[in-house]
Amino acid sequence: MKLWGGRFEKNTDKAVDDFNSSIRFDSRMYRQDILGSIAHAGMLGKCNIIPGDDALLIQKTLKEILADIEKGLIEFETDAEDIHMNVEKILISRIGVAGKKLHTGRSRNDQVALDIRMYLKDEIIVIKDMLTELENKLLYLAESNLDTIMPGYTHLQRAQPITLAHHIMAYFQMFKRDIQRLCDCYERTDVMPLGSGALAGTTYTLDRNAVARELGFASITENSLDGVSDRDFAIELASCLSIVMMHLSRFSEELILWSSHEFGFVEMDDAYSTGSSIMPQKKNPDVAELVRGKTGRVYGGLVTLLAVMKSLPLAYNKDMQEDKEAIFDCVDTVKMCLPVFTKMVSSMKIRSQNMYKAAQGGFTNATDIADYLVKKGIPFRSAHEIIGKMVLYCIQKEKSIDRLAMEEFKSFSQAIQEDVYTEISLEKCVSGRNLPGGPARESVLASISSGRKFLTSL
Ligand code: ARG
Repeated sequence: MKLWGGRFEKNTDKAVDDFNSSIRFDSRMYRQDILGSIAHAGMLGKCNIIPGDDALLIQKTLKEILADIEKGLIEFETDAEDIHMNVEKILISRIGVAGKKLHTGRSRNDQVALDIRMYLKDEIIVIKDMLTELENKLLYLAESNLDTIMPGYTHLQRAQPITLAHHIMAYFQMFKRDIQRLCDCYERTDVMPLGSGALAGTTYTLDRNAVARELGFASITENSLDGVSDRDFAIELASCLSIVMMHLSRFSEELILWSSHEFGFVEMDDAYSTGSSIMPQKKNPDVAELVRGKTGRVYGGLVTLLAVMKSLPLAYNKDMQEDKEAIFDCVDTVKMCLPVFTKMVSSMKIRSQNMYKAAQGGFTNATDIADYLVKKGIPFRSAHEIIGKMVLYCIQKEKSIDRLAMEEFKSFSQAIQEDVYTEISLEKCVSGRNLPGGPARESVLASISSGRKFLTSL
């Protein structure tokens, strides 16, 4: 018989049991469910809502059940519906009447809200640590490439010279914000809903704050309707994770391009590449492509959650059972992507000569030559036009600007002198951009050191 079977005259249809049951995906919250029940039972005992001996017996038995689950000794039942009722049913089967007292002053509605919050709190920490590991590796990569000149792009057209360190540190900033967003999301997840009951709280004098302390929550929910029906924290996490994936995907896209023969900027380690079943020469950046691909499924999870919640009246509705697979999949996917991505990035070979060659082509120093003319007293807009003509001339002559002879320079502007050759070197273009946030060595070093401080502050 069902734990709620009292008011029913018939059993549920077998198809409804399967349809209604969430055990196949919520069983992963068994630990949170049991720890929540242990805290709840302890509080019920201390507040004299149930006898102290019963509370102790419940707690002891729940610990045994937890150990048995971890040893793989327990098989959950579909018709016990979900993890909450499976655990309660096992408890009652082991200790009878005392076990029947556990659910006093509690509903599965506040129980499930508690379990998901506890589960996601742990996962946020795991993901935050994975991001921190990636950030550490990026700092290392940046530090070893402070002078690795490469073209920076806009519109995927070579634009101005930068360094690989600068490029890598751009991603460092993105993942730093991701970590901050996760910390922020953690705060709103770290709120304890037990005591909300089914929707309207309970008449028992529960000590909600004691349960919160026991379970390591920073605070308790302030409205019982909201306590059982809020899934913002899951949506917020799915959205943080979507942004993480968006960043990973942009990075992946660049690494895919960079490892193509056409770019040749990096070479993936054999351990992080795959071959083709037909073309013997192929070495494919599958890891980066899969990360890019899996981004779509994390966005999918976010959209699922938003859509499930969008029209739900207060308070709990069964629709909300659909939250779990979506958020779990987001979490699982990110946890799968991050470590392998980190290893891939830290093991790839940097082809710095190819990067340098690419920066030499494409007139990436054109802005600097215009700036050179400005320093010689020519207004920027006029300088822009002069250099535009110079670029056109170079394209026609198939030359780079720094290969022009002095007479050729002079034919565009008398203001150009011998010093032009050193002033427009790629090295000078980079080192001159030494404002905070720029690609010059000292600017990037400053950003690396502030990045390191951030990581140690976590
Ligand atoms: N398995 C349910 C869920 O995941 C637990 C809460 C069920 N509550 C209820 N009154 N049916 O949402």
